[in-house]
Amino acid sequence: MDRNKYLYINTIGCQMNVYDSDRIATLLHPLGYRRTDTPGRADLVVVNTCAIREKAEQKAFSFLGRLAELKRKRPEMIIAVGGCVAQQEGRHILTRAPCLDLVFGTGAIGRLPRMVARVESRRCRIVDVETGAEIDEFEYPQGGAGEGAVSRFVTIMQGCDNFCTYCVVPYVRGREMSRRPEEIVQEIEGLVRSGVREVTLLGQNVNSYGKKEGWCAFSELLARINAVPGLARIRFTTSHPKDLSEDLMTAFRDLDKLCNHIHLPVQSGSDAVLDRMNRRYTRAAYLSKVERLRRCRPDIAITSDIIVGFPGEGRADFEATLDLIRTVEYDSLFAFKYSDRPNAPAARFSDAVSEAEKSDRLRKVLDLQESYTLRKHRALIGTTACVLVDGPSKRQEQGETGAGIQWSGRAADNKIVNFTALKEDLSPPPDLTGRQVRVDIEDAFLHSLGGKMIVREPSRVKGEKIYAA
Ligand code: 5AD
Ligand code: SF4
Repeated sequence: MDRNKYLYINTIGCQMNVYDSDRIATLLHPLGYRRTDTPGRADLVVVNTCAIREKAEQKAFSFLGRLAELKRKRPEMIIAVGGCVAQQEGRHILTRAPCLDLVFGTGAIGRLPRMVARVESRRCRIVDVETGAEIDEFEYPQGGAGEGAVSRFVTIMQGCDNFCTYCVVPYVRGREMSRRPEEIVQEIEGLVRSGVREVTLLGQNVNSYGKKEGWCAFSELLARINAVPGLARIRFTTSHPKDLSEDLMTAFRDLDKLCNHIHLPVQSGSDAVLDRMNRRYTRAAYLSKVERLRRCRPDIAITSDIIVGFPGEGRADFEATLDLIRTVEYDSLFAFKYSDRPNAPAARFSDAVSEAEKSDRLRKVLDLQESYTLRKHRALIGTTACVLVDGPSKRQEQGETGAGIQWSGRAADNKIVNFTALKEDLSPPPDLTGRQVRVDIEDAFLHSLGGKMIVREPSRVKGEKIYAA
C-alpha cells in the first residue's frame, strides 16, 4: 500500500477546468494522492491552465516560476501541466518551463494515473496531448474527491464547433461531443445519493446538446433531470444566443427545479462587430430572445460576457454595446479586454484598438454595470429569498461574527446571500449546509446580499424546528 502522498492542484480558468481538476483528484486517489492547500508540501503539483486570454496564460507561467524555486529545494517534487495551454503548446512548454515532468492535454486526463506512475518510478518526462475521438464515460468522477459538496458540476458535452473568431476553445478543446442522456442522469442520481442538491450542467454551448449525435434536445435532457428525486436545483452554463430555442425558454417556465438564471454572453452590441466575431446573431435577435425569456420567466436573472476593443471596434460600435447594456439591464456582467490568441483568426485582423482605449472602455462598461447590479440588489431588500446553503460564511470561519452564526449560500437567481441564524433561535445550532432555507433580505452590496434566516416557531410542528423553505 502506498503511503499518503500530497497533491496540489492550481486551477486557472473556467468551470470546465474546475470540473477537470476534480476528475484529476479522483483519478489520482488510488495512487495514494490526497489534496493539500499548500504547494510546498506537495509531492505532485498539477497546474490546470487556461488559454482564453493572454493574462490567464501568464498566470500559469508565473506560477510555474514559483514552482521551479520549490523544486530546487525539493527535487523529488513532480510538476505536471494540464488544461488548454498544455494542449496548445504541447512539448514546446518544456522549453519554456524546464522544471516540468509531465504535460497532458485536455483529452489525456483519463491516462494521467498511468503517466504519473511512470514518472514516479522512472523519473522520465512525458508529453501527451493526443485527443481521442470519443468521450470516455469511465473517466467521469463517481464521488470520491469533493465529497460532502452540496453543489456539483456535471459535464454534458465537450468542445465547441462555433469558431468565434477571437476564441481559442475550438482549437484546444476540439469538436463538440455530447454524453448520452442516460449516463448523465445516472451520474446525477449517484451524486444525489451522496448528498448533492444542486447540479450545474457544463458545456461550451449547452443549447446544441446532442444535436450531432441525435440524442434528445437539451430541453428534454433538462426535463429528465428535473424528474430525479431528491435533486433540488438545476443550473447550466454556457448558452450561445444563436441556439437558444423556444423549448428552452419554456423550460424556464415549466421546470420547477430549473433556477431562474441564464448566462447569455452577448460579447458586443454592434452588428458589425458581432459579424466579424462570427457570432451569427444580430443585436435585434439577441434582444428579442431576452424579451421572450423574460415573458416565460419574469424573475429570470440574466448575466453576460462582453469583449471590449475587438479589432475594428470604433466609438459608435462601443456606444452600441453600452446602449445594449442599458436596454437589457443585466444582473451582472463579465467584461474583458480583447486579447490576441495566436490560434484564433482575429489575431490577424487589422485596426487593433490601443491598450489604453481598451482599458478606458472596460472601465466604462464596469461602471455602467455596477449601477444596475446595485440597483437590482437594493430592490431585493424586504423580499424573501430561498437559499441553498453552501456552509458557514468566510467571516464565520474566521470567527469574526458576534451573536449570530453567519452562513453563506446562493439564491435561485445565483446571487450570493450571507445570512445570520440567531443562536437563541437555534440551540444547539444545527449544520445548515445543504439545506434550503428562507432568508429575509436586509442588505444589498455589489457582490452579495445580506439577511436573516426565517425560523418558524418550534411549537408549530411537534417541537421540531423547520428550516426548509
Ligand atoms: N479576448 C478577450 N476575451 C475573450 N473571451 C474569449 N476569448 C477572448 C479573447 N481572445 C471571453 C468571451 C467569452 C469568455 C469566456 O471569455 O467573452 O464568453
Ligand atoms: Fe469560444 Fe464561441 Fe465556442 Fe464560446 S461559442 S467556446 S466563445 S468559439
